[in-house]
Amino acid sequence: KPAIVIAIDGPAAAGKGTLSRQIADAYGFHHLDTGLTYRATAKALLDAGLPLDDEKVAGKMAREVELAGLDRDILSTHAIGEAASKIAVMPSVRRALVEAQRAFSLRQPGTVLDGRDIGTVVCPDAPVKLYVTASADVRARRRYDEIVGKGGEADYDGIFSDVKKRDERDIGRADSPLKPADDAHLLDTSEMSIEAAFRAAKTIIDAAL
Ligand code: C5P
Repeated sequence: KPAIVIAIDGPAAAGKGTLSRQIADAYGFHHLDTGLTYRATAKALLDAGLPLDDEKVAGKMAREVELAGLDRDILSTHAIGEAASKIAVMPSVRRALVEAQRAFSLRQPGTVLDGRDIGTVVCPDAPVKLYVTASADVRARRRYDEIVGKGGEADYDGIFSDVKKRDERDIGRADSPLKPADDAHLLDTSEMSIEAAFRAAKTIIDAAL
C-alpha cells in the first residue's frame, strides 16, 4: 500500500510549520519541513564561505544535504532564510532537494510535507493538499510576536517588508513558483487561532482520506 502524503504549501510565516507538526502527530505520520532543506543548503554554503550565486556550487551542496540532521533552531536565522530563498530559484538546487523530498514522502504509513511546491511539483499525486495562507500583515505580526515572545527584539516594519520581499521572490521565480495546486484546499488562517486552524485542516483531511 503506498504511503499517504499530505501536502501543505503556503507563503512564509503562514503557520504551516506548527500546523504540519500537529497533523503529523495526529495521524502518526512522518513530517518534513522542506524549507529546512533549502536552509541547510544555504547554511552549508555560508559556513564554507562559498558564493550564493554560483548554481553549480549550490547544486553540488544541495546533493550533500542530509535530511536526518535538519535542526530548526540552528537554521532559523534571518540571514539563512534570505540566503535560502536566493538559492531556491536555482533549478539544480531544486532538482537535488526535490529528489530527497520525494524519497522521504514514501515513508510508511504516511508523510506530511510542507513547503512552497509540494502539491504542485514534489508530490502532485498527494491525496490531500492544503494551501495555508494569512494576510501579510497577520503573518508579520505573528513573526513579530514569536520573536518578542522568545525575549528577542523585533521591528515590525522591517519584518513586514521582509515578508513581502520573500513572497515576491517565492511567487515570482520561474522554477516552481509558490501557488496553490488546482486541487488544493485553501485555508486562510488570518482570523483563526492555531487550534481552529488545526480543526479546519483535520476536517478537510478526514473527508479526503
Ligand atoms: O519555509 P522557509 O522560510 O523555511 O523556507 C525558506 C525558503 O526556502 C523559502 O523562502 C523558499 O524560497 C524556499 N523554499 C522553496 N520550496 C520549498 C520550501 C522552501 O523554494 N518547498
